[in-house]
Amino acid sequence: MASGLFSTKPIKELHEAGDANELHRVLDAKALVMLGIGAIIGTGIFVLTGTAAANHAGPALVLSFIIAGVGCAFAGLCYAEFAAMIPVSGSAYSYSYATLGEFIAWFVGWNLILEYLFAGATIAVGWSGYVVSLFNQIGLHLPDALTNAPFTKGQGHYDLVRTGALINLPAVLVICVITSLCYVGIHQSARFNSVVVAIKVAVIVLFIGFGAWYVNGANWDPFIPPNTGQFGRYGWSGVVQAAGIIFFAYIGFDAVSTAAQEAKNPQRDMPIGIMVSLLICTVLYISVAAVLTGMVPYTELNSPAPVALALDRYPALSWLAGWVKLGAIAGMTSTMLVMLLGQPRIFYAMSRDGLLPPVFAKVHPRFKTPSFSTLLTGAVAAIVAGLLPVTILGELVSIGTLMAFIVVCIGVLVLRRTRPDLKRPFKVAAPWFVCTAGALICAYMMISLPHDTWIRLIIWTFFGVLVYVFYGYRNSALRKTGR
Ligand code: ALA
Repeated sequence: MASGLFSTKPIKELHEAGDANELHRVLDAKALVMLGIGAIIGTGIFVLTGTAAANHAGPALVLSFIIAGVGCAFAGLCYAEFAAMIPVSGSAYSYSYATLGEFIAWFVGWNLILEYLFAGATIAVGWSGYVVSLFNQIGLHLPDALTNAPFTKGQGHYDLVRTGALINLPAVLVICVITSLCYVGIHQSARFNSVVVAIKVAVIVLFIGFGAWYVNGANWDPFIPPNTGQFGRYGWSGVVQAAGIIFFAYIGFDAVSTAAQEAKNPQRDMPIGIMVSLLICTVLYISVAAVLTGMVPYTELNSPAPVALALDRYPALSWLAGWVKLGAIAGMTSTMLVMLLGQPRIFYAMSRDGLLPPVFAKVHPRFKTPSFSTLLTGAVAAIVAGLLPVTILGELVSIGTLMAFIVVCIGVLVLRRTRPDLKRPFKVAAPWFVCTAGALICAYMMISLPHDTWIRLIIWTFFGVLVYVFYGYRNSALRKTGR
């Protein structure tokens, strides 16, 4: 049994799968960078920065963004090595199937559900916060009971308490709309994506440019607020916990690797797409964190729309607040689309490998989309987004994704040893350092996340193992062919 658990999918087979599926190769390096930025900038920067600063890091949120950015840069290099070497879709799931074996691949695929499906739900909740704030600005007040999650974190580590609200209706509705688009097979065209990217980058640059004039140095003092005695509540532990939380803001660059089959020159352009988009976002994020915590005392940033809140504080900037909200809404919509399009394709890949039932690979006869997987993704994301707050969801996404990143970093090292012969168009320099540092930084952020998030990950993993034992292990295509 053990050898079966660790059997790996031959790289040649992955290439063949990619060749059989030949998509149009239309994306150049610039388009891939735009794709990366389109997938990265969303709820993380527009929403989670507020709670992370207010509850965990204070102005030192800047440091949190640096820590998370460095971890992502190392993991990004590892993704780039894999994406150039195995240019097929399926992302970290396919990479681990080729390197660390079926069980780990299953584990990564199961965690990618946290990354894609739950990120879709998280972004929808962030989107809802900005829509409510925009409506308020034009004098339309939506009822609190229909725009908030009915559950939130309680005082204790594991408490989930009622808020009195019924459902976050805008979040549910936007997921329904996006799911219908995914169902009929919309593809965010590169041109549409470029427009949205231009809008969201423009509002962020405007925020930084105008907001910088209103920074009050006193708000940065103390830079790292003293720890309150509770782990993760300010002090250094707060800075690292905030890094784990706002790590969510960087998620998405790995979506570039899923476009490998559509890249004109994946070998050269995938690494450029991943690293340049990550670099641009890191610079923007660090600047936003500095300006935001300089404009408003960090204790007041606990808001569903903190960037808009900071602008609203200064009458001379209130004209910009409306634009920022619109830009944020547009930006989050496109990020949500990336996530809700990505998840069904990962289900599809896992089902083709026999690890999920065949219905997950069912393709709509007319729209040619993975119809069942798309509907299931939408339904679960809508329920989750309607019931849970952005903090719980964001942390869960972060922990699942960090896990996948650690596996990818280790996978690069493993494959260097087990298959040194493979052609690597892009090679991580100093792999021992980069891969180990990437895995360690991601692990550091993971262990700094709150206990309740760990418990949720453990419960999630437990169910994942059950599904594997009772379904995947028995139906794996790889094992059936007797390899
Ligand atoms: N990085 C993406 C966001 O912040 C998931 O919305």
